[in-house]
Amino acid sequence: MRRLFHYLSGTDLALDLGTANFLVFSQAQGAVLAEPALVAVDRYSEQIIAYGREARDHLGRSAGRVLVSRPIPDGTVADFSAAKQMIAHFLRAAARKLDLFRYRALVAVPLGISAVEQRAVLEACEVGGARDTLLVEEPLAALMGFGPDVPAAAAHLLLDVGAGRSVVAILSRGRCLSSEILKVCGDLMDEAVRKDCLERFELFLGLGMAEQVKMTLGSAVALPEPLTMPVPGKNRHSGAPVPVEVSDAAVREALAEPAQALADAVARMLAKVPADLAPAVRGQGLLLCGGGSLLRGLDQYLGERAGLPVLRAEDPLACVARGVARIAAEQPDLAKAFLG
Ligand SMILES: Nc1ncnc2c1ncn2[C@@H]1O[C@H](COP(=O)(O)OP(=O)(O)OP(=O)(O)O)[C@@H](O)[C@H]1O
Ligand SMILES: [Mg+2]
Repeated sequence: MRRLFHYLSGTDLALDLGTANFLVFSQAQGAVLAEPALVAVDRYSEQIIAYGREARDHLGRSAGRVLVSRPIPDGTVADFSAAKQMIAHFLRAAARKLDLFRYRALVAVPLGISAVEQRAVLEACEVGGARDTLLVEEPLAALMGFGPDVPAAAAHLLLDVGAGRSVVAILSRGRCLSSEILKVCGDLMDEAVRKDCLERFELFLGLGMAEQVKMTLGSAVALPEPLTMPVPGKNRHSGAPVPVEVSDAAVREALAEPAQALADAVARMLAKVPADLAPAVRGQGLLLCGGGSLLRGLDQYLGERAGLPVLRAEDPLACVARGVARIAAEQPDLAKAFLG
């Protein structure tokens, strides 16, 4: 019965292939699947032995036999074979959850994706069971993810702070007028925290711990109440485990440069807004999404620097996937078989 319903209603699966997070949404069901975009490969057999959360569980285990990696770092396919297998695997898993037999896949892909990468995505979706696959430019998907009211304005300034890269863009009437891909992103913020802990406290942190510190203590503006946490790490000289009490102020200092780089990028893009669209952009302000935008106070910081109001997506991590699902249901003309 459920299968018949999905068949008749033409259920589509909407994918966001992020550097860190792989999301599958459907317009009717919302989130169908959310997994870390990771694969675990057995070094001896060179076979993938686990995907997503299961792959993450291998981190720090398996005594070097298993390599855990992201097949799509900074939005470009690094390992085609692994990326294709991961896409097909998650797509099959999502289709199984909804009991879908044949379905259409709509995939958000980064601006500037190469023809070879596009083909890899299309092939992977076919292997994953999609009868048809369409691609959507990521910033357009992000814009649609803000909900029905926002995309109605004549023009938009959007910043997506992802794990592997950020994108700032001007969008108007279903088109991306101008965009810049930025190196400053969530991963870079983790690296900044790690470097700062090493210099300030002689404390060596793994990247996972640096990310946790960023999420727990990180901010772009002073907090109303100071925060601290004991951070476990190893002394850089002795290798001995020595937890250090780290404060929000220290982490804010470490993140000052990345935050400034985001503000500079917004200013550069704002300067490129065509004069006739400037009132619309200024009226709506800066649209902020991507997991990195969850950094405390980043909205306030960027708003003050740009002199604009800021609207952060309700669920910044799922904004792109939600937008793709809306495009599938409401504006499929925004999706293409090939971006060309
Ligand atoms: N509360 C938080 N504070 C700061 N950063 C956060 C928070 N929650 C998540 N992040 C960061 O968000 C990033 C993941 O965001 P997102 O899922 O949008 O990236 P992605 O789409 O996988 O990557 P990309 O768009 O670069 O391909 C990670 O770097 C993560 O550390
Ligand atoms: Mg993303």
